[in-house]
Amino acid sequence: MKTKYAYLALEVNDIEENVKWYTDILQCKDVTGRFGTDKAKGSACVELNDGKCLVLRYSPKMGVKSHAFHGCIGCDDFLRADNYFVKRGIKTPYQPGVGWGKQGPCGCYSIFVSDPSGNRIEVHGYTEKSLQLKKREEILPLIPMIEDDTWVDPKNPCTPSSEDTMPPMRFEHIGLFTENVDKCVTFLRKIGFRIHFELYVKDVRTYTYIKCNNDFFFFEVSPGRPGMNGYANYRHVGLAVDDVDAAISELEEQGIKTTKTEYGFDIVDQDGVTYEFHPMDALD
Ligand SMILES: [Fe+2]
Repeated sequence: MKTKYAYLALEVNDIEENVKWYTDILQCKDVTGRFGTDKAKGSACVELNDGKCLVLRYSPKMGVKSHAFHGCIGCDDFLRADNYFVKRGIKTPYQPGVGWGKQGPCGCYSIFVSDPSGNRIEVHGYTEKSLQLKKREEILPLIPMIEDDTWVDPKNPCTPSSEDTMPPMRFEHIGLFTENVDKCVTFLRKIGFRIHFELYVKDVRTYTYIKCNNDFFFFEVSPGRPGMNGYANYRHVGLAVDDVDAAISELEEQGIKTTKTEYGFDIVDQDGVTYEFHPMDALD
């Protein structure tokens, strides 16, 4: 089963204000209409410059706790991205324990920015050590945690960029908290993804990156509960498959219950995260 990322759906408390933020700041295209979105019915769709989408759904009740806890955008010029946000008055607070100027254990720099509804979007900057960029078919061996202070790479000091334009960005991952990493990983493998790398911090399997075939997109699976770290307004994940009926048969055979919808079908994982499946041509 070939499954591709279609969109991440997040709740917002004002459609127009958020469409403006995503188009002005993240320089997305307003492609409302895609995936059945309709502003009159309280939903919009925006597309990043890599063609990947975010669906914005109006919700008067923000803050519903979900295991799908954040979306992440990757860029090749992290310092330029940071400068771009700072120049626009957008705070780029540190990721706890990692932060600006330090590499996380996956070899990326990381900041978070917030949209007008408070949904936090992670921005990753890559280094030659970034595990996301390695094309490895097998599970990587355990990577021990590096002692805190050595996370700063002395050869890569963070001199702020003077460039004031946004670097090309692509949607990189959806972060999922799960009560059971093994079950979550097994589920994602059943729906068409495969393990890219596993990363252990202090003997705890802290990040498992699950990837699409032929597509730069990951699920970042971490142990945790809904609403941890305050990421709360992400609602569901949109995916696309070549053949909807064949996908339903394949999933049902593996014991995954499917529910037909207007556009394709839905499934729900062991942690209550909904995955909405669409036919592949919905990505056009
Ligand atoms: Fe992340």
